[in-house]
Amino acid sequence: VTAPSRERPAEHWAAGAFVVAALAGVGLVLVFVFGGQTQLEGVLGGVAFLGIGIGLVIWANGLLDEGPVEQERERLTATPEEAAALRIDIERGAQIGRRKLLKRTLLAAGTALGAGLLVPLGSLGPDPDKKLLHTAWASGVRVVTDDGDPVSAAALPLDGLLTVFPEGDTGSADGQVVLVRVDPQLLQLPASRATWAPLGIVAYSKVCTHAGCPVGLYVADRHELLCPCHQSSFDVLNGATPQSGPAAWPLPQLPLVVDSDGNLRASGPLSAPVGPGWWSA
Ligand code: FES
Repeated sequence: VTAPSRERPAEHWAAGAFVVAALAGVGLVLVFVFGGQTQLEGVLGGVAFLGIGIGLVIWANGLLDEGPVEQERERLTATPEEAAALRIDIERGAQIGRRKLLKRTLLAAGTALGAGLLVPLGSLGPDPDKKLLHTAWASGVRVVTDDGDPVSAAALPLDGLLTVFPEGDTGSADGQVVLVRVDPQLLQLPASRATWAPLGIVAYSKVCTHAGCPVGLYVADRHELLCPCHQSSFDVLNGATPQSGPAAWPLPQLPLVVDSDGNLRASGPLSAPVGPGWWSA
């Protein structure tokens, strides 16, 4: 007796879609491991998702029995041929075999895609740890220009603006500071900062506390530093407290002293971590 054929093309299409998805997932991992290519990784990720989706749809629509189903009830016993066919079918595990095939290919696709989705974790940089909380500014560190030249306190003109760095860390993103010279009589710094601005020279971090843009504009008649990115303004006379715009925190202030050569030096670190508050949150 020959078992009736239970071949269903949909089974092969679904399994094929899962296999394609699995290959795409593996390809995604390989592309990343061998140097990465963003567009190709995106395409492979899309193919993997699409393959799994298509496979599941085919599985649902093509392989599940359609209803409603009417069954003739006149005869409750099987013919010898039908009984033999059923027995052979069970022995071969035909139905179970199909499910195994689909399950295995779906599992392979899911595993490969899962591995592909872990790929972005490999792009994370090293843990910054506490580095973002500290800069090179410390007591005694000389204030220098981007050329590394010391800054004479007397040379900075009234309402003049100068970008400076800690000596030995010229050009650093987190160490950049702006100097502004104002009339010392106008300053309204907190009492704890009364000595931080010799000759009316105040120093504030140039890294905006909103999103990190350089705060490089100074409006002399309002004594405000401006960030060009989203127009936050900071009161130079009063500890760079925000006046308008999205920035919510003051710019950290650098305490200054004038050394025996008449040059500016830091008398301590910046008053707070530089940049957006979420770095230190
Ligand atoms: S980054 Fe300065 S206002 Fe947004």
